[in-house]
Amino acid sequence: MDNAPIGIFDSGLGGLTVARAVIDKLPDEEVLYLGDTANSPYGPRPIAEIRELALAGLDELASRGVKVLVIACNTATAAALSDARERYWVDAHIPVIEVITPAARAAVTTTRNHRIGIIGTRATIQSEAYSNALAAVPGLTVVPRACPLFVEFVEAGITTGPDLLAAAHEYLDPLREADVDTLVLGCTHYPLLTGVIGRVMGEGVSLVTSSEATANVTYNELTDRDLLHEPRVAEDDVPHHRFLTTSTPATFAKLARRFLGPEVNSADEVDLVGGI
Ligand code: DGL
Repeated sequence: MDNAPIGIFDSGLGGLTVARAVIDKLPDEEVLYLGDTANSPYGPRPIAEIRELALAGLDELASRGVKVLVIACNTATAAALSDARERYWVDAHIPVIEVITPAARAAVTTTRNHRIGIIGTRATIQSEAYSNALAAVPGLTVVPRACPLFVEFVEAGITTGPDLLAAAHEYLDPLREADVDTLVLGCTHYPLLTGVIGRVMGEGVSLVTSSEATANVTYNELTDRDLLHEPRVAEDDVPHHRFLTTSTPATFAKLARRFLGPEVNSADEVDLVGGI
């Protein structure tokens, strides 16, 4: 048993989709969430810069005593996973969970025609992290596509409307024409856009998100390593999730409440050491 919180990191609000799934699957656990909103979006930045920012955020969570780190960001995973595993698992024995392998696995079990589309930020797509994760599966056709504006829409709280729909057509029409039957939302912001993505891709295309699959990995990791929170039996023993942001807490809390739910009471501002 371990009553320390689960640390969840993202460049901004997208990781809340993973946090939601983790809270639903592990209701006794406490979450400490950090969104590096001051530096979001990560997607257009060079890989070395994303690595530096992600490690600064993960350092902050590690220094606050989390029992496991969830990198709830595909872009940060693509840029920093091996460094993070070295730094926290090898050196400090804090398990590090990522979002790319769980989503890639889920896509393989979902597709029927073996044609999988991958959408993500420019950095994630350029890193080829998904294509590499899927490379060992025989007979797959993988069609990747960067959708840089999607994160900016979400961070601005925009999940409907004509501008978003136009951007979705520009990004997704080629994937529909490529006849993919499964689309990996390879960015944790994108589950907040399933309305518009589903509308453009059509009903025959399954949307795969990393949130559910990553929450399953988190459940298994805590169970296998005996890191679960002790059962909360008393009625007033409820988890107090905490939310940290590198920009304005009130703005973050308002959007986070909308995207995650009533568990977000407030947010606190944090300055990241080593950030740029
Ligand atoms: N949520 C991050 C991801 O999964 C995103 C993005 C960003 O800051 O560009 O890739």
